[in-house]
Amino acid sequence: MDNRPIGFFDSGLGGLTCIPHLMQSLPNESIIYFGDTARTPYGSKAVSTIRGFAFEISDFLAERDVKMIAIACNTVSGVAIEDIRKRHPGIPVLGIISPASHTVAKRCNSTNRIGIIGTKVTVQSGEYPRKILRYNPSLKLFQKACPAFVPLIEEGMTEGEIIELLISRYMDGFVGENKLDTLVLGCTHYPLIRKSISALYPHLEIIDPSEEMLQSINDELEKRSLYADSHSHENIFYASDLSENFVNMIDKIFRDSKYRVAFKSFDLETEIRR
Ligand code: DGL
Repeated sequence: MDNRPIGFFDSGLGGLTCIPHLMQSLPNESIIYFGDTARTPYGSKAVSTIRGFAFEISDFLAERDVKMIAIACNTVSGVAIEDIRKRHPGIPVLGIISPASHTVAKRCNSTNRIGIIGTKVTVQSGEYPRKILRYNPSLKLFQKACPAFVPLIEEGMTEGEIIELLISRYMDGFVGENKLDTLVLGCTHYPLIRKSISALYPHLEIIDPSEEMLQSINDELEKRSLYADSHSHENIFYASDLSENFVNMIDKIFRDSKYRVAFKSFDLETEIRR
């Protein structure tokens, strides 16, 4: 048993999409989340910059004595996970691309036409195709970078005309020309626009990696006997810029739950408790 919190991080609020799955299945676990809202988006930045940011945040979480680091960001998982593991050899570090790839390989077959959407860096890293094809080389995969989704989502524009226009702009040709039947949301921000994507392309079977990550967290906790036996801590959400959107999104997630939540800005000058 281990009642220390699990550390999650993302470039912003996207990684929050992983939290409800964890709360539902593992209600004893507590969370420290870090959203790098001051420096989002990561997905079009240089790989060396993203690595530097990811090192700072993983150090920050390690200093807070987390029992596991869950990288709730495809972009960081794609380009920095091995370096973070080397930097923190005493802490299990889990990414999001491996569990999602495993699910895609298990759930799909060679008749499927599978699209993967993500940030520029995730697509360029080639980690999704590499991992999926390692599990199942017969699958047909197509990738597309959609770099303008994240800034709009961070602005809170998750539905309505503007986001729908942007989705069409990126995806009409991609879905139609490749005759896609399956879509992997290869960025943790994208579940927040899943409804709009499904409304535009109702035939697509959607795979959401933020759901798949939970299974690997569960497996790792079990393997290392790290399950918590009581929810003794409050959940703490840090942000490098404690924006209104970030706070509202967390309020929405925790609205009907019994958990205590605290928000803190990175420099700890601002603190809000619920
Ligand atoms: N949510 C992140 C991901 O899964 C990062 C998006 C970004 O900052 O560009 O890739």
